[in-house]
Amino acid sequence: MNISIIGYGRMGHEVKKLADILNINVKSIIDPTDPEATHNRITNESMKDVDVAIDFSKPDAVLENVKAVAENKVNIVVGTTGWYDRLPIVTKIVEENKVGMVYGPNFSIGANIFFKIINYASTLISKFEDFDPYVFEMHHRMKADSPSGTAKEVANIILKNFTSKNKLQFDRLNRRIEKNELHVVSLRAGYHHGFHLVGFDSEYETIEISHSSKGRTSFAKGALIAAKWIIGKKGMYNFGQVLEDIIFNQF
Ligand SMILES: NC(=O)c1ccc[n+]([C@@H]2O[C@H](COP(=O)([O-])OP(=O)(O)OC[C@H]3O[C@@H](n4cnc5c(N)ncnc54)[C@H](OP(=O)(O)O)[C@@H]3O)[C@@H](O)[C@H]2O)c1
Repeated sequence: MNISIIGYGRMGHEVKKLADILNINVKSIIDPTDPEATHNRITNESMKDVDVAIDFSKPDAVLENVKAVAENKVNIVVGTTGWYDRLPIVTKIVEENKVGMVYGPNFSIGANIFFKIINYASTLISKFEDFDPYVFEMHHRMKADSPSGTAKEVANIILKNFTSKNKLQFDRLNRRIEKNELHVVSLRAGYHHGFHLVGFDSEYETIEISHSSKGRTSFAKGALIAAKWIIGKKGMYNFGQVLEDIIFNQF
């Protein structure tokens, strides 16, 4: 497989490192300022012999990047987040140019499987009203926001399945928690790459399910799996659909 890396920041470097280990050819690296990049913008020449371009750039750059890649009839994996309000126009570009695209906010395979496990677990446990669910997440001290997007995702999965819960509570409480509230707690300290735990507690027993990230490589790995999957395909897919296909149709 021949790939192009668009955006040579932290994730772009991670993709390059893993591609080298997996003997995947990196035909071009596109970044406006990085001195190690082969091109400072997407050109016809930078897309020559590229099977899939992998974009980890900036939200504002995604629309133009997808357009430039699609016009070169190259498929694309977009890991960049924060552009989803432009999904309809990006979909139109992909469809008009008859190329394939995979996008998603979290390319970690483990985290996506974790979402499916929580969905199944909460469906089962919600049938028994004495179990009370909760979410805890922990990240390094440099993380600028809380709760994490992953914590919000699992919390919403639980909310969907527990009819007794209809409100997420992210704050410290100076009162008893209401029955309809799901408490989502964040901790920031040290160097944790990302830890998420979902618990279901009854008076007599506790079930806890957790996922720990060991770093950015898990995202790079997922992006490369998505890149391999999208070769020869057309249309828009999210990473969840890619995993469903791999899990249910290819094994
Ligand atoms: N889906 C996932 O699993 C996942 C995982 C991790 C991160 N992300 C997302 O991926 C994105 C990148 O994250 P990061 O940590 O790698 O950020 P980063 O370190 O800031 O890297 C972004 C790079 O893209 C470059 N860039 C800016 N405009 C560009 C353009 N038009 N074309 C090509 N490159 C351009 C930037 O250059 P300058 O610095 O010169 O602007 C920078 O080198 C973010 O949106 C982040 O949220 C997604």
